[in-house]
Amino acid sequence: MNKPKLLIARRIYPEVLSKLQEHFDIDYNDSDEVYAKDELIKRLQGKQAAMTTGTDRVDEQVLKACPELKICANIAVGYNNFDVASMTARKVQATNTPDVLTETTADFGFALMMATARRVSESEHYLRKGLWTQWSLDMFTGPDVHASTLGILGMGRIGQAIAKRGAHGFAMRVIYHNRSKLSAPLEQACKAQYVSKEELLKTADHLVLVLPYTPEAHHTIGQAELALMKPTATLTNIARGGIVDDAALAQALRAGTIAAAGLDVFENEPALNPELLSVPNIVLTPHIASASRKTRAAMADLAADNLIAFFTKGQVLTPVNTIQ
Ligand code: DGY
Repeated sequence: MNKPKLLIARRIYPEVLSKLQEHFDIDYNDSDEVYAKDELIKRLQGKQAAMTTGTDRVDEQVLKACPELKICANIAVGYNNFDVASMTARKVQATNTPDVLTETTADFGFALMMATARRVSESEHYLRKGLWTQWSLDMFTGPDVHASTLGILGMGRIGQAIAKRGAHGFAMRVIYHNRSKLSAPLEQACKAQYVSKEELLKTADHLVLVLPYTPEAHHTIGQAELALMKPTATLTNIARGGIVDDAALAQALRAGTIAAAGLDVFENEPALNPELLSVPNIVLTPHIASASRKTRAAMADLAADNLIAFFTKGQVLTPVNTIQ
């Protein structure tokens, strides 16, 4: 029997590739180069399956041009690169990689928040430039993390894992805002209290963004929201670029509207707003929140299992949409 045809749009781990080779006839992009849309459409001709990452946009134009496509398995928990409504209308199964990255991503979110509060990047740059000539009492002082108020915007699995780190490990008061309030047992497990978005912005000492990107979430944090925050507060974004208005943030950091920011994701990444590069009170990382070797391999493996299950069992493990 002919194997289904699969496009793997990005270099993956050899063990995951071998597993897929048993089930699929594969067209493999053995590189980290992102296909331009024309190339993606060309490569997807005659293919029933695609393995994608968050930078491969699967929209109506792609779907229309590739009518044989039946499934796209994203190696990411976020799937804002998919036009899910079009995929569902065209009966294309979409899958993502939840759960396997929760704890690793929460570790990173917490680390970035701590590095931001305690000015790790800023002080390292100072040291590397040879500017450190003497110790002083108030050199690179920043706000405490322990026993402060942790604000979380977006209280899904990763938000909850960050809340637990703050509440149980660092004696933080945890407040959160989310589309829906958590159940009482979940709130208890996270020691977290639901508040309005306005109260979250006004009260948090350290605000961490973990909400999914949707068109409605575009610029959830802009000039007006930053103005509500404490001048001593920090902002950490491990969610998606576009949730924060990067230009407004750079301006707020320069003006002292808030104390510092930590960003792992950016509008138009991998391009960066140049204003962010010249602001000192910022920690910048290249979208690596889920990047432990073990977790990245588990994400690729789950995407592969979704593809295999779709063709062998007729159902996937972690669906994003329901195909009738
Ligand atoms: C995710 O899983 O959504 C991460 O941001 C990697 O793309």
